[in-house]
Amino acid sequence: MADFVGAIDQGTTSTRFMIFDHGGNEIAKHQLEHEQVLPRAGWVEHNPVEIWERTSAVIQTTLNRANLQHTDLAAIGITNQRETTVVWDRRTGRPYYNAIVWQDTRTDRIASALERDGHGDLIRKRAGLPPATYFAGGKIQWILENVDGVRAAAERGDALFGTTDTWVTWNLTGGTEGGVHVTDVTNASRTMLMDLETLQWDDELLALFGIPRSMLPEIKSSSEHYGTTRAHGPAGGEVPITGILGDQQAATVGQVCFEPGEAKNTYGTGNFMLLNTGTEIVRSQAGLLTTPAYKFGDAPCVYALEGSIAVTGSAVQWLRDQLGIISGASQSESLARQVEDNGGVYFVPAFSGLFAPYWRSDARGAIVGLSRFNTNAHVARATLEAICYQSRDVAEAMAQDSGVTLEVLKVDGGVTANELCMQIQADVLGVPVSRPVVAETTALGAAYAAGLAVGFWKNTDELRSNWNEAKRWEPQWSEEQRTKGFAQWKKAVQRTLDWVD
Ligand code: G3P
Repeated sequence: MADFVGAIDQGTTSTRFMIFDHGGNEIAKHQLEHEQVLPRAGWVEHNPVEIWERTSAVIQTTLNRANLQHTDLAAIGITNQRETTVVWDRRTGRPYYNAIVWQDTRTDRIASALERDGHGDLIRKRAGLPPATYFAGGKIQWILENVDGVRAAAERGDALFGTTDTWVTWNLTGGTEGGVHVTDVTNASRTMLMDLETLQWDDELLALFGIPRSMLPEIKSSSEHYGTTRAHGPAGGEVPITGILGDQQAATVGQVCFEPGEAKNTYGTGNFMLLNTGTEIVRSQAGLLTTPAYKFGDAPCVYALEGSIAVTGSAVQWLRDQLGIISGASQSESLARQVEDNGGVYFVPAFSGLFAPYWRSDARGAIVGLSRFNTNAHVARATLEAICYQSRDVAEAMAQDSGVTLEVLKVDGGVTANELCMQIQADVLGVPVSRPVVAETTALGAAYAAGLAVGFWKNTDELRSNWNEAKRWEPQWSEEQRTKGFAQWKKAVQRTLDWVD
């Protein structure tokens, strides 16, 4: 058998390809950003063609850099930004419209009408999700209603929907020449269209959004043979594609959270905390989502409770791109270190409304507590604190729903390189924070799912032995400081909820 497994991570801001060995060590990677298209306030789009081109380029470059060929890869896994919606023409392979990104709030009217018309409970119960702009169902409906010709094409069977896992898989396996149209349970569960128990599309939910079933990909497990890369494609030969998982679920696998009660928090554009609840579907009373964590082949689906936070790392990007107070993400740490505390400043980056546990798409961001004394450094510090306070909000909801109180928080993702932010996280939560040696757990999780399907790894015990802690941060704040800070944060959040256009 080949010595390596490849993983495509098609994320919100970039796409990367990584190659891992049997020990879960990173052998090579390459990453390319794609454009964030922001046509108007609240709208966020990506060009799916650019995403496919970037995907092809990172696969080729990574293989070249590592001096490897397709025959060195036992399998490829795919992980992706979830919910981001692509609709394309199966005959030409061309998208009808840009991808509507998970952060986009244009479907606010669709989401609030569902709640107003009394469909909220059905969606919560069957799909495990509250009606919200975040999920794909409303985005598909918007495209069907607003882009000329798409509804007719969908009814003819020509228009295909997919999240970016599906789009990339379809292209890799041949596109217009026989590309496979599939997704996995983790991605399908983010549409508001899948029944959590049957793990199939649900006719009643499809009818609520007016979505023809013929547009939808076949729902598969997260670890099985879906198809093979084309010989003339970017891998330069045929490699089995045997893992598909949404990025947050992939990170859960990469962090080897295989037992009920194990949780991880990923710090990317947004933050996503997932708690493994085993084969039991736990319905949230506290504003979390219920979602499949993974389903490996024929084994039963393992579920999770998820606290999704829309804006964390992207708030740091906002400091760089919109405010211009830092020139790179890492500078947020040095700037924030110039001050001892937040100087009374709290920043609630509710740019896409607020996700868990509030689910208020009408919330808007606020920086509160400013006085003349405050500087850029306080704003930078408040931004890092916002990442951590939002995580505390979801950790509290998780404790409420599951009765599990975290003893340690396993973290991963780009922002975990920010040591100050991780220290603040331990301080704000009052529990230690632990980062593994391989911080690229999202790609690693996709590689694991793919490798399990082809016998590259035998079982999850083997994966567990690959996990090693690199660094741990212990809480340093006093209990009084923690309680006061959190109470101030809650007051700041309330301001953003009161701010209705
Ligand atoms: O649900 C959205 C999530 O999958 C996006 O993750 O890492 O691309 O920000 P990320």
